[in-house]
Amino acid sequence: MPPSLLLLLGLLGSCVSLRPPRTSFILNSAERPLALFRPPDLLNSTTLLLSDDDSTLFVGARDAVFSLDVSQSDVISLKRKVEWRPSPREITECRNKGKDPEVDCPNFVRVVQKLNSTHLYVCGSFAFSPHDAFIDAESFSLVGLVDAKAKLRCPFSPLQRNSAITVDGEVFTASTTDFRGESAQISRHFSREGRQDVSQDSSISLLEEPAFVGSAAVDRKLFFFFTEVGKEFSFVDELRIARIAQVCKDDVGGQRTLQNKWTSFAKAPLLCQVHKQLPFNVLQHVFTLPPPEGTSSSETLFYGVFTSQWSSGAESAVCVFKLQDVQAVFAGSYRTFDTQTHLWSSLLGKHSHLGQCGLDSATDSELSQVKKSFLTSGSVKPAGGAPVVVSSDRQYSRVAAMRTQAANGKQYTVLFLLTESGFLHKVALLAGGPRIIEEIQVFTQPQLVKSIVLSSSKGMLYVGTSEGVTGVPVSRCSVYRSCSQCVLARDPQCGWSRNSSVCTAPHTDPHDIAQDLEEGNVEEQCRRQTKTVRNTEVWAPLNEAVMLPCKNPAQPSSLTWTSRRFRNLPKSHFLRSADGTLSFIATAETFGTYHCEAREAGFTEVIATFIVGPVASPRAISPVQNREGDQVTQSEGDEPYEDIFRDTTVNPAEEYTPRNNKHVIDSEDKTQEVFFMSTPRRDPQSRKDLLELPPAGQHSPALLVVSLLLALCVGLMILGGVQLWRREALIKTSRLLSPEDGGRTNAAMETVASLSPTGGEPSGGE
Ligand SMILES: *[C@@H]1O[C@H](CO)[C@@H](O)[C@H](O)[C@H]1NC(C)=O
Ligand SMILES: *[C@@H]1O[C@H](CO)[C@@H](O)[C@H](O)[C@H]1NC(C)=O
Ligand SMILES: *[C@@H]1O[C@H](CO)[C@@H](O)[C@H](O)[C@H]1NC(C)=O
Repeated sequence: MPPSLLLLLGLLGSCVSLRPPRTSFILNSAERPLALFRPPDLLNSTTLLLSDDDSTLFVGARDAVFSLDVSQSDVISLKRKVEWRPSPREITECRNKGKDPEVDCPNFVRVVQKLNSTHLYVCGSFAFSPHDAFIDAESFSLVGLVDAKAKLRCPFSPLQRNSAITVDGEVFTASTTDFRGESAQISRHFSREGRQDVSQDSSISLLEEPAFVGSAAVDRKLFFFFTEVGKEFSFVDELRIARIAQVCKDDVGGQRTLQNKWTSFAKAPLLCQVHKQLPFNVLQHVFTLPPPEGTSSSETLFYGVFTSQWSSGAESAVCVFKLQDVQAVFAGSYRTFDTQTHLWSSLLGKHSHLGQCGLDSATDSELSQVKKSFLTSGSVKPAGGAPVVVSSDRQYSRVAAMRTQAANGKQYTVLFLLTESGFLHKVALLAGGPRIIEEIQVFTQPQLVKSIVLSSSKGMLYVGTSEGVTGVPVSRCSVYRSCSQCVLARDPQCGWSRNSSVCTAPHTDPHDIAQDLEEGNVEEQCRRQTKTVRNTEVWAPLNEAVMLPCKNPAQPSSLTWTSRRFRNLPKSHFLRSADGTLSFIATAETFGTYHCEAREAGFTEVIATFIVGPVASPRAISPVQNREGDQVTQSEGDEPYEDIFRDTTVNPAEEYTPRNNKHVIDSEDKTQEVFFMSTPRRDPQSRKDLLELPPAGQHSPALLVVSLLLALCVGLMILGGVQLWRREALIKTSRLLSPEDGGRTNAAMETVASLSPTGGEPSGGE
């Protein structure tokens, strides 16, 4: 490798830190709908299996196995269900062993595998006493129940992890095999052609408290992924090591030595480490990405999510391992275990039979060496030498990966990473580093057990948790409404069709698609793509609060409000809350046009325009052209503000400049000035207060109290506004408190309640 390339890889490795997700969607939001399946009788749906044609999802749940129709991407519907629960007597026995009947003693179905064209194989914890069964796919009923060997195939405890995989009708399982979950086995069951089932040699400890997180079958070999105690580092207590183990699919064991035991078992450390830092040593999950069509199986990639034994906070990383690197390590040198000293030492010289398939006729001396030399000297290092994703603030726990072709014809990898807090992160691995395109909430409570499966062909990802099954479409380009938003998203699965003016999958004509994954250059990609921002008209009664929502299309972008009104009126008349909402009091001066602009990656665009005008009053209305040329109307008659304005000759706005009000509120927060305009119209007394301002330098105690109360209201309003914006971005106006109303706290609360769409009085009109 040329030194410059090494240097580049080194640099890439050091700059993989993640920025926050560009957009975020709460569970099943209108913009990013999901397919939810959460009937009350589906509990702990934590084992998922997709049928070969990706149209049926089998779910191993609590006391039941479900068959779900997932042929439609927007709905999941029940096909069949079979109940499978322990008897009351078995539950009592479980309780007598000190287990909680509700939490531990149901049957948590932990293996669901397709055995052959007619039968499924299932295994469940069954009141801390694993049972297994076949399910007749046709009638979807349990047949051929209970096998003593179930205890080798799935764990006793619902919290212990396991893995299972079926190849040619033979089921390979990796599971803890006792009540305490201390011993573990990788074994083959339902062996075909009359050959014996094979398990691990138990005369020596091949696995040390393993937690199995996944398995894969490639060619003649099976791989199991887990974390265990690294006994080769005898100087460190309880050091955990991520591992990959292999066995050969057709292993039948030795003739005298290792009868019906693996002769091909070997394990190797998986290293996921940022240069010169402590490794991410705890493997959480592995996803196997098959090679691109037409390439060799050695191009298979394993994406592993890791956390660290030493980290105190949420921290995680994703490393990619190439099958060919795994093969090279298993073909390399081994360590050997000294049964006397219980120490590992390097095995000198080359021993070509270690880690090999087809040792059934190997000599006893070769097999006795196999027995104690099953740990490789080398570690499997990640492709590129470093993690592809490092997150210093998220604990990722599950991963799925898919290849996708971008508009430029290049292949990109998209990862789906599940966070402990219930969000799925869609991460594109771009040349400039990983990028979280979006985050989608998929569950609400922390989950002890969860699983994900991906249907690349259907573009659906399924998440199974104790809350049910959630189907997530891998992309939803239509959330990006403009060319710029579509390009800025930098989603390999979305591009802007210039012909049809929609954000869509970049399939057909690449010249039609605007997409720039590496740079997100909107100016170049979206030339001549005009965006029509719909003007929203807002009709507000005079003196009421107007709140203009502006949803930030992307988190890193910043929002700005612009209006010609800002030239004439002081900034303090306008309040901008953290969620982007602009609030002000509807007056003749504030009626006009407001634009909300978003800036991202050096590109600015208007994303919302509001035209705010007064609500038609039953009295005389004379339409006037205001300075901006917007068609607005101005109320006439004996409105209180007319009185105030009547005296003003040149610029009515002058009435509200901070200088004029200074002597009243100079010691107060700026934002209160806005609400000096909010004197209710049917309240001549307070109007009089406002008009008869105390002389400069003198503070009116009453007004100070009012100001403070109003400040409280502003705070509450912002809270209400955030809620309003979260629930639905509807334009609402609401009544403000009069100083008298504000004197009672619960009146203030009511006002806030009326801001939310579900609360109290319909706002905005009189
Ligand atoms: C599938 O496996 C079950 C259980 O071993 C067996 O009874 C059934 O005959 C098999 N079906 C086929 C088509 O091989
Ligand atoms: C099963 O689901 C319940 C909530 O319905 C949850 O509290 C519990 O932790 C789950 N158990 C397992 C083993 O997933
Ligand atoms: C887009 O329009 C151009 C020119 O009008 C045309 O040549 C091209 O085929 C169109 N592409 C698609 C995908 O419709």
